[in-house]
Amino acid sequence: MHRPLVTLKLATSLDGKIALANGQSEWITGEAARKEGRKLRAQHDAIAVGSNTAVTDNPQLTTRISGAPDPTRVIFDSGLRLSSDSNLVQTARITPTYIVTKSDEGGAAKHLKDLGVLLIVSPYDKGLSLPHALDSLFNLGIRTLLLEGGGTLAASFIRQNLVDRIEWFRAPLILGAEGRPAIGDLGITHMNAAYDFDRTEVNEVGKDIWERYALKSHD
Ligand SMILES: NC(=O)c1ccc[n+]([C@@H]2O[C@H](COP(=O)([O-])OP(=O)(O)OC[C@H]3O[C@@H](n4cnc5c(N)ncnc54)[C@H](OP(=O)(O)O)[C@@H]3O)[C@@H](O)[C@H]2O)c1
Repeated sequence: MHRPLVTLKLATSLDGKIALANGQSEWITGEAARKEGRKLRAQHDAIAVGSNTAVTDNPQLTTRISGAPDPTRVIFDSGLRLSSDSNLVQTARITPTYIVTKSDEGGAAKHLKDLGVLLIVSPYDKGLSLPHALDSLFNLGIRTLLLEGGGTLAASFIRQNLVDRIEWFRAPLILGAEGRPAIGDLGITHMNAAYDFDRTEVNEVGKDIWERYALKSHD
């Protein structure tokens, strides 16, 4: 399988939460960290999010950097839950926007296509097939993908060994067990099964810490 290089980007509390229980995540990290996050977007061919993030946050996924083109957006949304009024759909004619989904038939699919959204149909088994979707994105010219969450989609990528790098912005806040986890369930029952990364850099950015990781090399 060909696939883009995948970088997971997270903005979390000290205790690894990406949002409150009610879904609110704006803003965990400070402006300086968010600016670095937008620069990371500009360095990638595409940005990906899960349907819950797309629906809950109604993000634009833009760089807001003058002169920097906005990367392609990719939403994993098997049931086409993303509203036609959403920021992503409303700007699909300006910035290429792919929805990875189960089927491109039916009224919702037609409506989204009429609004300029491009659909990638992938096999589905307890989630859309990530290898299939990544192969399709590679064939569309996407070589680098910034995965911006949420925790459920991030966990699927990690479980399938599809995360090559991590950009982790950590704020000095504690949100508690009721907050939403940065990474969902991985089914790990033994320490040997934990996913291993090497820390390659640590920076202070405003009041936050920015840690960079790469998949552990075993040679
Ligand atoms: N602080 C941060 O850095 C940050 C970043 C992003 C999001 N967030 C927060 O995270 C929350 C949303 O996270 P979440 O974990 O609930 O949802 P999520 O990861 O955004 O979306 C998960 C959904 O993606 C769809 N999906 C399709 N194929 C999948 C696959 N193979 N594996 C996993 N998911 C797949 C599924 O919905 P369908 O059945 O509809 O396809 C699944 O329920 C929001 O509150 C948002 O604000 C925070």
